[in-house]
Amino acid sequence: MSTMGRAGQAPMVVVDGVRKAFHGVTVLDGISFEVAAGDVVAFIGSSGSGKTTLLRCIDLLEPIDAGRIVVAGEAMGWHQQPDGRWVRDSERELARKRQHLSMVAQGFHLFSHMTALENVMEGPLTVKRLPLPRARQLAQELLAKVGLADKAHARPSKLSGGQQQRVAIARALAMGPEVMLFDEPTSALDPELAGEVLATMRQLAAEGHTMLVVTHELAFAREVADVVLMFHEGRIVEQGPPQEIFTRPAHEATRRFLARVTGGVPQPTGSS
Ligand SMILES: Nc1ncnc2c1ncn2[C@@H]1O[C@H](COP(=O)(O)OP(=O)(O)O)[C@@H](O)[C@H]1O
Ligand SMILES: [Mg+2]
Repeated sequence: MSTMGRAGQAPMVVVDGVRKAFHGVTVLDGISFEVAAGDVVAFIGSSGSGKTTLLRCIDLLEPIDAGRIVVAGEAMGWHQQPDGRWVRDSERELARKRQHLSMVAQGFHLFSHMTALENVMEGPLTVKRLPLPRARQLAQELLAKVGLADKAHARPSKLSGGQQQRVAIARALAMGPEVMLFDEPTSALDPELAGEVLATMRQLAAEGHTMLVVTHELAFAREVADVVLMFHEGRIVEQGPPQEIFTRPAHEATRRFLARVTGGVPQPTGSS
């Protein structure tokens, strides 16, 4: 079950045959893919196709019904006993393994009673148990990285949506995750504010962060993603480099999705 090979060679994320149903309705219908360390993967597909559910399963917020997920060499949700049997992780194990990942969601979910700096310090202080001065220094560095050094002492209510989302990204980075998950991080923002968040994400990608990004920002995906995965009804119906998927979509669902997102007219079945 372990995918640990020689150092640096194992994929950072393995999703293998993952299935998930809610109340008997299949939402993830056998999802498999691998992500190399440092790669950026864009998840596209219409609403309800299972993208958020998959991110939540990878982040151990939802249990899966079948298949396996391995992050940074560790089976997520399960561990093997000395006798070889696989057993479910305890809450404590889940909490530890969750630290491989940080999620940035559509809403920013900052603590409103804390400053930007305190929001970023919170995880390092309470989860990582960093001493106060180190947590503060880390938070200051990360706010500077996302271009918000001058907003360290502002409450979220005094920040624009784009600034709040960049604080949320700094907060996610503060946990030192191996993998960053982004779930439509710009969909609640006006285009000009989305642009500054995308610029921050572009920078993280260039620095070599491993990123799984659900996005409708096709220009961003085209520029930054190494691989695009197209979701349709709980399955990945096609995947490949963005140049390929966006210029020669092979699946009807991809053609319809791209036409809708780019504001074009959906193509009738059979034409291309
Ligand atoms: N907690 C839940 N309980 C029941 N159904 C859910 C739950 N979360 C998601 N779903 C359903 O799963 C399907 C996939 O949803 P989701 O993963 O949010 O899709 P996407 O992110 O691609 O829009 C949808 O039909 C949605 O209604
Ligand atoms: Mg979603």
